[in-house]
Amino acid sequence: MDHPPLPADILVLPGTDIEGAWERFYPFEALHHLHEICNPMRRTELSAVLDALGPTNRAHAIDIACGHGDLLLDMAHRVSIVGVGVDLSPWVLLRASARASRTDLTGTIEWWLGEGMEVPRQPQWDLATCLGGSWIFHGFEGTARALSARLRPGGRLAIGDLRLRKAADRESLQEAGAPEAATLTVGEQAAILTRLGLEVISEIVSPDEAWEGYHHAVIASADAYAQDHPDADYRHLAAAWMEDFQRDRLHLTWSVWIARKL
Ligand SMILES: C[S@@+](CC[C@H](N)C(=O)[O-])C[C@H]1O[C@@H](n2cnc3c(N)ncnc32)[C@H](O)[C@@H]1O
Repeated sequence: MDHPPLPADILVLPGTDIEGAWERFYPFEALHHLHEICNPMRRTELSAVLDALGPTNRAHAIDIACGHGDLLLDMAHRVSIVGVGVDLSPWVLLRASARASRTDLTGTIEWWLGEGMEVPRQPQWDLATCLGGSWIFHGFEGTARALSARLRPGGRLAIGDLRLRKAADRESLQEAGAPEAATLTVGEQAAILTRLGLEVISEIVSPDEAWEGYHHAVIASADAYAQDHPDADYRHLAAAWMEDFQRDRLHLTWSVWIARKL
């Protein structure tokens, strides 16, 4: 397929099928090219996540499924981190790397193209994060394990994922055969972190407007992309995601957990 060249500053992890990745993530590009943060979060929530992570000068930080790089870019504006953003989409890294080069950062960031699961366990990082990519590690618990395994003792992680609302009734959802019933509760997520030897620092819950805003931006992205690229009309996908959201919002919410490895 036609695509821009991969900038030389993007490091490709061994075994990455670069051409396959351009093709596979093209629909995601069409649905997110107007976003900065590609998650149900606004600057307010992202900033609260950064406060809780508390990056310090020279901290080594890795963000798996980094998208357009907002978390690391904001971190590198605050302090002189040594950051790495990993993503399997060349499209998002193209944007992340262009954004990094357009701004004066206090810290440095490398961009790695590759499979999140293949990020080595060594060296151990001070901060390890994954916001909205928990399927990569087969769910919340797998993500907590994967990030914790890559952290030094005392290091901090952040995981962004969906969970059941406190008021949701799992039994009735199960009886109704609703897929949301399989989503973890706040207590289950907290218990996983504790069981893995992580001390919870905070949970930052996004308001519904943030989630809704994300989906409106998906619709706007799909509309704009279809106008400029008639062969890439993903408006049906954007509309289906909005429908799913309208159903999910009744029982689910989005939050980011920040925890410290003991
Ligand atoms: C929902 S977006 C979140 C992006 C970013 N964390 C943010 O908050 O803006 C999910 C990201 O996961 C990336 N991704 C999907 N599968 C992946 C994989 N197997 N390994 C690494 N990244 C992956 C996508 O390209 C996308 O950028």
